[in-house]
Amino acid sequence: MNSPRHVDRVYQGQATSDGAGVRLVRMLGTAQLPDLDPFLMLDAFGSDQPGDYIAGFPDHPHRGFETVTYMLDGRMRHRDNHGHEGLLGPGSVQWMSAGRGIVHSEMPEQVEGLMRGFQLWLNLPARDKMSAPRYQEYAAEQIPVVTPAAGVQVKVIAGQLGEVKGVIEQPATEPVYLDIQLDSAATITLPLPLGHSAFVHVFQGAAQVDDRRVAAGELAVLGDGDAVQLQGGDGVARLLLVAGRPLREPVARHGPFVMNTQAELVQAFNDYRAGRF
Ligand code: FE2
Repeated sequence: MNSPRHVDRVYQGQATSDGAGVRLVRMLGTAQLPDLDPFLMLDAFGSDQPGDYIAGFPDHPHRGFETVTYMLDGRMRHRDNHGHEGLLGPGSVQWMSAGRGIVHSEMPEQVEGLMRGFQLWLNLPARDKMSAPRYQEYAAEQIPVVTPAAGVQVKVIAGQLGEVKGVIEQPATEPVYLDIQLDSAATITLPLPLGHSAFVHVFQGAAQVDDRRVAAGELAVLGDGDAVQLQGGDGVARLLLVAGRPLREPVARHGPFVMNTQAELVQAFNDYRAGRF
């Protein structure tokens, strides 16, 4: 590791609602930060008011990309039109490759009054957009936790940290997805693949990313390099460190369909309407 990444720019999230009126904060996929190839969207959701989310995300389609749901607290009840269903518990991750298409519902539930998590969208390359839908699902206890330095705890969802490999496999974009907790005095330099797009989203406390302070609710897009330097702030900081290899392909996107051309988007609408998902 000899070229630490700098912070290109820090973005604020944008409060919005989606599904049947779920209140959330969109961190990526906003007017200020429309995408970060291969990433298309990052939503942070969470509330102790069930009215903010209880209507959930009833049946809706996806084609051509992946949705990654990571629950911090509470549960997400999931069901699709191919017979796949399950309950994502606190600390679990569901990495769903929609491929040629699914129709599913996602219904949040609180546990002990809490419901909090993230949904990340990342693109698939043209060659994989029409592949069979695929799920990678792991409970909290299946996700490796590493302590690479004093006061630093890392849940390795995707990517590699030392000898520890994350649970998710996605050779197309070789993603990194780490949930990092930093005590106030902690400092750590973590490797990141050179050339990957990368960002840090702080969701609790504040952390120093390279030489920039990033507070809860902010997302820092990183410049290129082979590592990132993180340092705790006041109290305990929690953040996501996410990276992926850019696809550098044309993106034709409308709502829940992400293809390469307008013609493929029209085909997606037609296939969905005709019940071919
Ligand atoms: Fe969905």
